[in-house]
Amino acid sequence: KAPPGVSVDPLRIVGKELKFLSNNIRNLLGSGHPMLDKVAKYYTWSEGKHVRPLLVLLMSQATAPTRDTSRSPPSTQSYISQPISSPLVLADANPDTSPLTAPAADLEGVFGEDPNILPAQRRLAEITELIHTASLLHDDVIDNAVTRRSSSSANMQFGNKMAVLAGDFLLGRASVALARLRNPEVIELLATVIANLVEGEFMQLKNTAANETYPVFTDDTISYYLQKTYLKTASLISKSCRAAALLGEHTPETVEAAYLYGRNLGLAFQLVDDMLDYTVTSTEFGKPAGADLELGLATAPLLFAWKRNPELGALVGRKFGQDGDVERARHLVSQSDGVEQTRLLAQEYADKAVEAIQIFPDSEAKNGLIEMCKKTMNRRK
Ligand code: FPP
Ligand code: MG
Ligand code: MG
Repeated sequence: KAPPGVSVDPLRIVGKELKFLSNNIRNLLGSGHPMLDKVAKYYTWSEGKHVRPLLVLLMSQATAPTRDTSRSPPSTQSYISQPISSPLVLADANPDTSPLTAPAADLEGVFGEDPNILPAQRRLAEITELIHTASLLHDDVIDNAVTRRSSSSANMQFGNKMAVLAGDFLLGRASVALARLRNPEVIELLATVIANLVEGEFMQLKNTAANETYPVFTDDTISYYLQKTYLKTASLISKSCRAAALLGEHTPETVEAAYLYGRNLGLAFQLVDDMLDYTVTSTEFGKPAGADLELGLATAPLLFAWKRNPELGALVGRKFGQDGDVERARHLVSQSDGVEQTRLLAQEYADKAVEAIQIFPDSEAKNGLIEMCKKTMNRRK
């Protein structure tokens, strides 16, 4: 156990558990249709950061010491690992003779050995990555992205139709795995996340809709952006942290602390993402940098620049759509303190995340959660 305040590598703490993650996820995604199987698993082969599962595992570990063992969690292990068959044949066809019969999509997984992490919490970690990956498949279609994690994006590789359907398939399998946890509150939380992702994406679309009127920066501008940011990014992180604590049968105080940690870290995470879009190269980022303006999106660095310079309103209004708009906006942002303001706001949220878990007993996993806040602030990709 590391003494408090000593820097630890979060990846090392739960590294053993994470080692099995991608493989377990692929087991959840088996389909007898070879093409669907391939598209659904496509992003599981690339090097994701696994931020959400990492947080769920660390949160599970960090809260383990306060688990109320008198209310020890019901053994859901038998439900969790039941295989789901995915027959791609009509009910009356003989599955054994059909070339499309799925090798039973198997919910079983190889798990790490940390006794402080419950099987249901491990499965939750996988579910968060499934939902996140589904949202990336859909997002890359919406954003017409060419690259993701330094490789060709799924929409470029397989086309929009298959990318969208694969995303839906991931959500379906995530739902089955979620139901197997036999915890209605956790099911409700993660189902809400899926709805929130769509709401966040819609707020972003509306935000960028061509607008004839000249938009003016108001007090609502930043709060609308933050609400959108919560829905599209922080909802998944906060609600999965909350779900991890719920699966551990923790007190309401611990559950709320886990949620607040995730909410604040999630907001910091997306603010940094929006900042990096202005400050790093595409090669470093592993996805197109400077893409937000091209997509017509006004994110935090631009909003803070707009606050000081009303000229940006006209450009926001037409989604940076006229010749030279993107370059002009980029120039005005670089002349402003927009990037720095964004970094400061992200730091405020990261500090609040650390503050939220002060009530946890000192442990290596708690230090890992604190370290995740530092890593979020220092990341370049
Ligand atoms: C990445 O944002 C995208 C998201 C965080 C969520 C996208 C949500 C949807 C497309 C809604 C529908 C999806 C599901 C699964 C319900 P970004 O485009 O800012 O980041 P990027 O630079 O990584 O592409
Ligand atoms: Mg995108
Ligand atoms: Mg997007």
